[in-house]
Amino acid sequence: MRLEVQLIPGPPKIDLDIVVVIDVLRFTTSAAYALSNGARSILPCGTVDAARTAVRQAKTGRAMLAGERNAVRPDGFDLGNSPLEFTPAAVQDRDIIWTTTNGTRAIQLVLASATAPRDAILLSYVNLTAVAALLEPRLREDAVVAVACSGREGGFALEDAACAGALVRRLHASLGDALTVNDGARASACIDEAYGEDFARLFRDAQHGRFLRDHGFGADLQACGALDALQVVPRWRDGRFVAG
Ligand code: MLT
Repeated sequence: MRLEVQLIPGPPKIDLDIVVVIDVLRFTTSAAYALSNGARSILPCGTVDAARTAVRQAKTGRAMLAGERNAVRPDGFDLGNSPLEFTPAAVQDRDIIWTTTNGTRAIQLVLASATAPRDAILLSYVNLTAVAALLEPRLREDAVVAVACSGREGGFALEDAACAGALVRRLHASLGDALTVNDGARASACIDEAYGEDFARLFRDAQHGRFLRDHGFGADLQACGALDALQVVPRWRDGRFVAG
């Protein structure tokens, strides 16, 4: 029963059963809204060019492009990366090909690694309870779980660490000291304890929260802090994330 938190993006350092990827601001939050609002699948791509190629090669007419660079929707993309854009009208029955600066790259680093896990899921505050409920029985069965924070520009992001810590504290509360954790998990739990559910303060303190507010995406921060607003758990199945 082992839970590790990796605070900086990169390939996993141990053999894993499940990886939980976090990009609170904003990819994993927006992905949860998209699947909850009826999107059929999400294909994460590392680059804008790879996403454009994937949409050209898509076999169905249901594919669409979403994502950002510097928080802005690239030319020709259908949607940006704001959780507020992924409404039922915009995404129902669509296959979303998605690329973002940090989140989709962090996923690729994990899934393309030699130690790639069997199962991958996406976590943010909007589906914290749903993800914890899915992981708890797997940990009881002795699964090894790693939480991979997407971070910012290859480094640490406060909001991802805080969300990881919220998951660690939930799981520790239900599983107790039988749950083995690493230093990253302990550090993230301290950050979560410091902020609690004061997401306004967390996002004010976080560099990327201030960046988004200064670039006109202040309304997104509220959607990203909507604790347990959704029941969906995006899960990796046959090369895409689908609602689990
Ligand atoms: C990312 O993956 O870097 C983020 O989701 C950026 C953003 O806020 O759009």
